[in-house]
Amino acid sequence: MEPKPMFVFSFPFMILIIHWFLLPLHGSAAESSTYIVHMDRYLLPNVFSTHHDWFQSTIESIKSATLDHSSKQSQKLIVYSYNHAMYGFSVVLTTEELEAVKNSHGFVAAYPDRSVTIDTTHTSEFLSLDSSSGLWHASNFGEDVIVGVIDTGVWPESESFKDDGMTKKIPNRWKGTCEEGQEFNTSMCNFKLIGARFFNKGVIAANSKVKINMNSARDTAGHGTHTSSTVAGNYVNGASYFGYAKGVARGIAPRARLAMYKVLWKEGRFASDVMAGMDQAIADGVDVMSISMGFDGVPLYEDPIAIASFAAMEKGVVVSSSAGNAGPDLGTLHNGIPWLLTVAAGTIDRRFGTLILGNGQIIGGWTLFPVNALAENLPLIYNKNISACNSVKLLSTMAKEGIIICDLLPDPELSFKQMWVVDEASLSGAVFFLDGSLLNVAGTGRSPSIVIGAQDAPSVINYAISHRKPTATIKFQQTFLGIKPAPAVDGYSSRGPSPSYPGVLKPDIMAPGSNVLAAFNPHIPAAKIGTNVLLPSDYNILSGTSMACPHASGVATLLKAAHPEWSAAAIRSALVTTASPLDNTQNPIRDYTFPSQYASPLAMGAGQIDPNKALDPGLIYDATPQDYVNLLCALKYTLKQILAITRSTSYNCAKPSLDLNYPSFIAIYSNKTMSVVDKFKRTVTNVGDGAATYIAKVTQPKGSVMTVSPETLAFRYKNERLSYNVIIKYNKYNKEDISYGDLVWIEDGGAHRVRSPIVVAPSGIV
Ligand SMILES: *[C@@H]1O[C@H](CO)[C@@H](O)[C@H](O)[C@H]1NC(C)=O
Ligand SMILES: *[C@@H]1O[C@H](CO)[C@@H](O)[C@H](O)[C@H]1NC(C)=O
Ligand SMILES: *[C@@H]1O[C@H](CO)[C@@H](O)[C@H](O)[C@H]1NC(C)=O
Repeated sequence: MEPKPMFVFSFPFMILIIHWFLLPLHGSAAESSTYIVHMDRYLLPNVFSTHHDWFQSTIESIKSATLDHSSKQSQKLIVYSYNHAMYGFSVVLTTEELEAVKNSHGFVAAYPDRSVTIDTTHTSEFLSLDSSSGLWHASNFGEDVIVGVIDTGVWPESESFKDDGMTKKIPNRWKGTCEEGQEFNTSMCNFKLIGARFFNKGVIAANSKVKINMNSARDTAGHGTHTSSTVAGNYVNGASYFGYAKGVARGIAPRARLAMYKVLWKEGRFASDVMAGMDQAIADGVDVMSISMGFDGVPLYEDPIAIASFAAMEKGVVVSSSAGNAGPDLGTLHNGIPWLLTVAAGTIDRRFGTLILGNGQIIGGWTLFPVNALAENLPLIYNKNISACNSVKLLSTMAKEGIIICDLLPDPELSFKQMWVVDEASLSGAVFFLDGSLLNVAGTGRSPSIVIGAQDAPSVINYAISHRKPTATIKFQQTFLGIKPAPAVDGYSSRGPSPSYPGVLKPDIMAPGSNVLAAFNPHIPAAKIGTNVLLPSDYNILSGTSMACPHASGVATLLKAAHPEWSAAAIRSALVTTASPLDNTQNPIRDYTFPSQYASPLAMGAGQIDPNKALDPGLIYDATPQDYVNLLCALKYTLKQILAITRSTSYNCAKPSLDLNYPSFIAIYSNKTMSVVDKFKRTVTNVGDGAATYIAKVTQPKGSVMTVSPETLAFRYKNERLSYNVIIKYNKYNKEDISYGDLVWIEDGGAHRVRSPIVVAPSGIV
């Protein structure tokens, strides 16, 4: 059988996993809380031999000066010192002590530790990142690139982390370790999983009485095992979720090395721990960082991921992050950070299960019921009294009589309630209808039921009411590939513009996030039957931008192996300009939430990630660290706010500019003027083989006139850089409308097409 990418979801299990992520996050430590404090490294007094001594001394003098003896004696003063991702420390302080810290020598900025949002959700569908084509060969499957995954830890015994086929020499630049801890020792790392560390001082600082239930890098949630095996899991034959999505599981970069940094805990998820994990990953020498989480509603200069990823970007580390699961409303995404990659989630061309009517009609549906239940040739029941499927009591009276048809309800939320009722009633079988636009949802998987598209409702119901003895069969544990159309942006995927900086078009790209099959913690339930049967699984099907992010991280890993000389911005540019705006029907990618519409760049960025095309993008939009600083300066951030991100005064604000050399465009017009002219300058580097001429082709956003000059770029040699200007003149369109277009540089007589999406939007949507 054709090897399949590993991926898939389950609603039931999602409820379990999400449960602990929703625990109260902040400890109740009286009046003290943890603060993250940025310091100026150039003001380190030379009496201190290490930065840690300086921080420690600063805090000691403050604690002895203030009269709060209870907090003074309480704990180790500094929670973490940071030296790579940021410069400074985290510390538990009272508000009085915080004021004193603000007045101390070298202080830059301080803000409270905050909780991080993890990006898993329930929903469903597919991808296709198939067999061994261009990029896999060129990158040797990501050989020796080191991926750091910042997450809930790892299940080291999983088959996905065995090191068969991995070379026995770990690159010299690797400085990390395999840290011992509870149920975790150094023999659990190998030539695939080369590092594992854990960070929970922030959790403990917030609540000194907390008992950490797995004090090591071991994953008790399954999330980190899933994401890390998606990026770089080894080949595993016959992996499946209870028979669904069966095939060869493997990560996107199966020959890359993995290092896990466990920073998310059942007991809490804190910025201070996330910062510590990223700080260590940079110091350890990772090449790519995969971050399936984000901080909502924070400015760039207080966002640990923005801060730490700036340091990573300076070192050429590619940081790939999830857009969030707060869609489909606009302006909901996190990680909309100009120097990293922000990934939206799309569906996969795969579905599971079939309904067969007694008259021979076969209807494709959705189910992830984990056993092959005997739902063959059972009576098919359509009874108006119970067809709303809203009463456990009524349904229970007919529980064993056959397969019950539940009516289509106007609101998908009500349909989920139906599914819950059916689970509680322990039916022999049930058929649900959902609007076709939502048909990538397999129900809860807890009862022997199947979800069918609303368009098939009339024929199913007609058959059931017109036949004397209607029967039906539900087939479980079946997988169908090649479902169309796919991909589509899934409803949960968070949308741009980025609240932290709307002037850069986010998300950047879309990757498969719905119904992804990957490795899991086999000691926790991955499925539930009815109300009390819990089933574990080595592989689980999950959905979310958390699952999309590691696909993009994996592709970035392959690009890093194929083009070690490319900067993080160059790799992002290659991913953006080659992404596909079309689905597998060659029509524009759709948005499942708005079925009548095509997906906008605010939902999917440039479109679906296309690894093989990204290998050879033709042109690249590069950016230097100073370019990003120029943007921060133009945003009128204070010097201290900028220093919190850059940690270094070697940058300057001599040329503030909002016009970042980004591979996409967003023009925001204000409500009052209703007419605006936006100017952009872009510089592209020819990374093709030699001389090449490119011609601009513009699809105008409705209501705007976009001009490009020059319209031809003639490169004479490889790595030559040429610039062009874009003017977007917004005239008038329907008020509050957002319009889209694109600019494609087409190689004259060649194969390269370098596409940038364009959005023109009113300022009111941000
Ligand atoms: C690590 O733990 C495993 C399983 O408990 C054990 O078999 C192995 O000997 C341990 N290795 C070391 C170095 O302690
Ligand atoms: C529906 O409910 C009514 C009232 O309880 C009952 O008389 C009737 O027989 C039921 N119909 C069916 C088809 O079960
Ligand atoms: C335009 O301005 C009006 C009044 O100030 C406001 O109510 C409306 O929300 C604005 N619309 C947009 C798109 O900014």
